[in-house]
Amino acid sequence: MPHTLAAVATPWWKGAVVYQIYPRSFCDTDGDGVGDLEGVRRHLDHLSRLGVDAVWFSPFFPSPMADFGYDVSDYCDIDPLFGTLDDFRRLLDDAHERGIRVLLDWVPNHTSDRHPWFVESRSSRDNPKRDWYVWRDEPSNHWQASFGGDAWTYDARTEQWYLHSFLPEQPDLDWRNPDVVAAMHETLRFWLDMGVDGFRIDVVHGLAKDPDMPDGAEEHRGLLADFVTMDADEVHPLLRDLRRLADSYPGDRMLVGEVYILDTRRVAPYYGNGDELHLAFNFRPLHARWDARAWRRQIEIAGEAFDPIDAWPVWVLSNHDVPRHRTRYGGSESRARVAAVLLLTLRGTAFLYAGEELGLEDAKVPKRRVVDPGGRDGCRAPIPWDASGTHGWGVTDAWLPWPPDPRHRNVERLAVDEHSILHLYRRLLVARAASDALRLGSLKCVDAPDGVVAYERRSGADRRRVVLNFETSPAKLDPGRGWVVDVATDGEGEGDAFSGLLAGDTGVVLRPV
Ligand code: GLC
Repeated sequence: MPHTLAAVATPWWKGAVVYQIYPRSFCDTDGDGVGDLEGVRRHLDHLSRLGVDAVWFSPFFPSPMADFGYDVSDYCDIDPLFGTLDDFRRLLDDAHERGIRVLLDWVPNHTSDRHPWFVESRSSRDNPKRDWYVWRDEPSNHWQASFGGDAWTYDARTEQWYLHSFLPEQPDLDWRNPDVVAAMHETLRFWLDMGVDGFRIDVVHGLAKDPDMPDGAEEHRGLLADFVTMDADEVHPLLRDLRRLADSYPGDRMLVGEVYILDTRRVAPYYGNGDELHLAFNFRPLHARWDARAWRRQIEIAGEAFDPIDAWPVWVLSNHDVPRHRTRYGGSESRARVAAVLLLTLRGTAFLYAGEELGLEDAKVPKRRVVDPGGRDGCRAPIPWDASGTHGWGVTDAWLPWPPDPRHRNVERLAVDEHSILHLYRRLLVARAASDALRLGSLKCVDAPDGVVAYERRSGADRRRVVLNFETSPAKLDPGRGWVVDVATDGEGEGDAFSGLLAGDTGVVLRPV
């Protein structure tokens, strides 16, 4: 039989909704003001009711926390701040029992400077691990590190410089060294053997550096290391090896890469010919303004850039690195509701960031409480679970201030209010689960007045239409024939024929009568 699309079972991650948990900020049960694994386990029902397919945990591995876990000092253990390996196994089992898959965050571009590999590497020039990292007699270029400063730090003892694309506490591994590749593969196997369903791969486009490490064009001098150096051709064979490793396990293990390149067309090659990453984040839309024309353009670009068979798109509006989209789009909850419909009805896998289902805004973090070297504290504020003084945490004051209005904007309260944004997210996930068109279908933009984005999703006979008013003023459209409101951002008229009228900052998902 020919190898047709229909003959291949759809993997779980295609059309899935993945929920990102920033472990420090989810829920604290031991009273230290920092979230922990037990806090996640206790709230798995919230995730089941929401209807997500998988969770992705930002790093919870042992770490000195210079970059809050993105500086890993042991890839195969849990930082005591969050719990133990046994706690993780319990959490994994409980998640799987509820049909929720579990993805971990793998940070292969760099380790912590306290990782035993780097401790050895910096101990002497002839240490066997010296060439696991990138050492030079002189800085080879003028690269700047993310978070500021030079990307090279001098080591006085061995009188050489090492490369770090991020903080000096995050030395870059040298992936040209096969021993590094083998050791890092082992860390993946450790978790895959335990039964995790895959990985979000941090800064994956940075694994291979241009061997000459050039400064790049004159105008790029002094730019961030990641913009000049990353996205080298040599990354692709490394990705094919990772893909083979993941695919050698049963059960559709999945790799989704943080390809932080703000040009969608340059993200597409990270899927290879279906033999590199299963999924790759496309961050350009995350930086688009809340503007109908800008978004229509992003949707069209994704449609053109990604191969229809091998490159399934990813959509994301918020994460732990950028202000929450409600805050970015001006702070209105109605607009955040329209954004939820957009995110959950586009063609691709959708990534939610914990708290967006509550319509959270960024916390206002006073200067004296800023702890992140990149100033990303606002979007990392703790999740309020109830209206009490501790908001369901072990303490009244957690590691970061609460987001605005936690007495009203918390899980318990929104769960009992059918009109809440939380219920909108639940209805959208139900609608998505019920429709092949929404989950897996094609997408075609349809004509709409200025300020409105409209598209149709189709899979065989199954069809849905999505109409989103990006403006605060009302919009009037041709209602078409035979469309019923399946989900409305304000809950108005669900089940009724679509009138063609949309109030400002509202949107609908329509189904055929
Ligand atoms: C990624 C992470 C970010 C981290 C950086 C360095 O961009 O998302 O949080 O600071 O990598 O690991």
